[in-house]
Amino acid sequence: MENFEFYSPARLIFGKGTENTIGQQLKPYAKKVLLHYGGGSIKKTGLYDRVVASLNEAGVAFVELGGVQPNPRLKLAQEGIDLCRRENVDLILAVGGGSVIDSAKCIAMGVCYDGDVWDMYQQGKAIEKALPVAVILTIPAAGSEASGDTVITNEDKALKYGYGSPKLRPLMSVMNPELFYTLPKNQVANGVTDMMSHVFERYFTNTKSVELTDGLCETVLRTIMHNAPRVLKNAEDYDAWCEIGFAGTVAHNGLVGCGRAQDWGCHNMEHELSAIYDVAHGAGLAVLTPAWMTYVWKDNPEMFVQFAVKVMGVDGSYREPEAIITEGIEKLRAFFTAIGQPATLTELGIGEDRLEEMARKATHECFGKEQPIGGLKKLYWQDVLAIYKLAL
Ligand code: NZQ
Ligand code: ZN
Repeated sequence: MENFEFYSPARLIFGKGTENTIGQQLKPYAKKVLLHYGGGSIKKTGLYDRVVASLNEAGVAFVELGGVQPNPRLKLAQEGIDLCRRENVDLILAVGGGSVIDSAKCIAMGVCYDGDVWDMYQQGKAIEKALPVAVILTIPAAGSEASGDTVITNEDKALKYGYGSPKLRPLMSVMNPELFYTLPKNQVANGVTDMMSHVFERYFTNTKSVELTDGLCETVLRTIMHNAPRVLKNAEDYDAWCEIGFAGTVAHNGLVGCGRAQDWGCHNMEHELSAIYDVAHGAGLAVLTPAWMTYVWKDNPEMFVQFAVKVMGVDGSYREPEAIITEGIEKLRAFFTAIGQPATLTELGIGEDRLEEMARKATHECFGKEQPIGGLKKLYWQDVLAIYKLAL
């Protein structure tokens, strides 16, 4: 096991009715908040009215900025930074999913920085300060409710970059699984795929002697795969949503990756798809993950046998590891198909024409300094291109 430090201070406030306490929860921390949200689902579901009522009742003043798009855009966040400065906002309340939360984090650090906030994403500059961010989660998926990460699309440059800092972990996140009942089925599938990928990125490692986190990863994956079909069948299955919601947070708050070298190859490859084709992050991951597994498993067959047996429930002869591994990957592909995900780039509307450009961008080869991605197997641009081609 490698050395590690684990500190995940985001307070998780979980269960029925918890969103109605948001005003009281925020009162000790803020006089004026920015209420930040997406394209309107919170107005349709009545959540917006309940949040406003709770803030008013607690005497917490607010200004608002809606309109965050999936794959959140830099321009709206820059608008949010100006608004917060003008209005002396001291906390950002994100009501939504990963896109809204990531936009909120971008605003939170941008307010405390004199230059252009894109510098952080582009150059990885360390931040000294950020406004606190609080969350009411409406879709279990990105895990941003407990992570220190933000992913933003610079629409002018067609670049989607992530940035991470412990200062960006939310102060608190409210999760009422009842808020997930209104999610369209494709968003459920995207969320489930993303949280599974967050575990995969940590699980597939060459680090030895990490039995505890191996087991945590496997349990989180099995729990997600057991409960996803239940919520897809019955959108109001509260108990199943509790499992999915909690799993989504645990998948990405850092715990299951402690002491392990991590991978993140699939995430890096997917961000190129989202940046150019604006595909949903989860859908892109569903297509790329089995292709990535097919390409890399020979670098660590033991890890992939363990995955096939302990996560995908493959039975077979240990004297034929390749058969076990192949079946494990096929079962994962079948699971993604069963929850409604596309299986190929073609189904996502992506052809062969820009694959090489994306492979060179993902590895920064086209910027003059190639940085291979991935951990279990280092991927250079030619490897990334081969994986994209396998996924066609
Ligand atoms: O915008 P509205 O109208 O609210 O609709 C949203 C949006 O269209 C809808 N939705 C959300 N909650 C709903 C609902 N519709 C009905 N009922 C509800 N309760 O769902 C759509 C998708 O929302 P979005 O926030 O984009 O989804 P998600 O949480 O999957 O976030 C995806 C973003 O997170 C980033 C991804 O790259 C992507 O940009 N990620 C962030 C990470 C992080 N910060 O740690 C890690 C992840 O790996 C990921 O990269
Ligand atoms: Zn993700």
